[in-house]
Amino acid sequence: MSETAILFRSKYGASRKYALMLKERTGADAIENENMKAELIRDYSTIILVGGVYADRINGLDFIRRFRGSLSDKRLYVFAVGGTEFSPEYIAKLRKVNGLDDIHMSYGRGEINMDTLSFFDKRLIGLLRRMVKRKPESEWTLTEKAIAESEGNVSWVDERYLDPVVDYISPVL
Ligand SMILES: Cc1cc2nc3c(=O)[nH]c(=O)nc-3n(C[C@H](O)[C@H](O)[C@H](O)COP(=O)(O)O)c2cc1C
Repeated sequence: MSETAILFRSKYGASRKYALMLKERTGADAIENENMKAELIRDYSTIILVGGVYADRINGLDFIRRFRGSLSDKRLYVFAVGGTEFSPEYIAKLRKVNGLDDIHMSYGRGEINMDTLSFFDKRLIGLLRRMVKRKPESEWTLTEKAIAESEGNVSWVDERYLDPVVDYISPVL
């Protein structure tokens, strides 16, 4: 067993890809963050949470609330996967919205595959795209820009986004 567990929650696969690349690069154990039990994380000293961003909320963070007690003696890091272009402003926003002021975190760009989205998500993204395109481009937020760019299937997945997490994990492996 490794010292580090990568817990991932992935709706459409991008966070899973990052979790498996991270496992490959560090030798850490990757575990799907569903139906999680305290015993599963007991023997790890470092926990990396990987999850997709939906309406600025990072999927899987309920884990921190549920296991607050079991996490108190562990190092914790959150890797968020979203469609928005990488920028310090967006990362600061994710920190604020998700209450991550005191927790190590970084961000990687994921993918939007219109073909695989659920009926509801496809409708929602389509509606948002039409709304965004009615606004002048100069007024688009970075997330709106990603929505406008996401027609069809787009992937921005890039292993280099994981470099800060690898640096965080490496000293304790
Ligand atoms: C309904 C919906 C809402 C989304 N909201 C955001 C968002 O607020 N910010 C963002 O950066 N990306 C957003 N995205 C893009 C996802 O974060 C992106 O597709 C990511 O790769 C999903 O990771 P996952 O498949 O591992 O869950 C959204 C995607 C969908 C389908």
